[in-house]
Amino acid sequence: MDGNGRWAKARGLPRLAGHRAGTENLRRTLKACVRHGIKILTIYAFSTENWGRPAEEVRGLMTILEQVIERELKELHEQGVQIRHIGRSDNVSPRLLKKIQKAVELTKHNDTLILNVAFNYGGRQEIIDAVRRIMREGIDPAKVDDALLSQYLYTAGQPDPDLIIRTSGEMRVSNFLIWQGAYAELYVTPTYWPDFNEDELQKALDHYAARERRFGLTAEQTKTLAEQAK
Ligand code: FPP
Repeated sequence: MDGNGRWAKARGLPRLAGHRAGTENLRRTLKACVRHGIKILTIYAFSTENWGRPAEEVRGLMTILEQVIERELKELHEQGVQIRHIGRSDNVSPRLLKKIQKAVELTKHNDTLILNVAFNYGGRQEIIDAVRRIMREGIDPAKVDDALLSQYLYTAGQPDPDLIIRTSGEMRVSNFLIWQGAYAELYVTPTYWPDFNEDELQKALDHYAARERRFGLTAEQTKTLAEQAK
């Protein structure tokens, strides 16, 4: 959800106004995703690196997240959204953690759409956490493969993302789902996140639909496999 700060600056507003506008847009986008039948949406809300931002902005983002949970949880639950937190819990205030846990617990049986909230999240940290758990559990190194490691990530049990959308024109992955996104299609739009609307989402989905995903194979092999799968 990149570009909130620049969106605000372009309007002579404080950065937090951009994050608030970004939050409103998340609400709209989530509804659009439900309408499009998207089953899993992962949003990058706060990275492990974001703690380094000015204290006022960090505090503001924490407050926004708390307020969003307070304000939106009931409606999200009614829409059938299952909220999951992916990321670490350290440094997060106990009050906010409690609210996150409440949202996760309340919605855990919903199945319209899974909303992974990447909060205090870093892709490298996620892999480190997975390796630590694997080692702690004394897993035989010979048993460690793609499938096993995936089961130790925060997204265990979920398929890899098909499409990663980055707003505001930055051509970087920025430590987001670096393991799971190995074969994801990337879509970058210059639009700032608060302005990323349903038309933009449709454009991203159209681009995705037009791409040929080969997973390292040749075009011919991919075609044969697709025909066999029919
Ligand atoms: C990136 O834009 C955005 C963020 C670091 C925060 C995103 C958070 C929200 C939209 C609100 C809280 C989250 C939830 C789940 C309700 P930026 O600040 O890096 O923008 P810039 O690159 O233009 O400065």
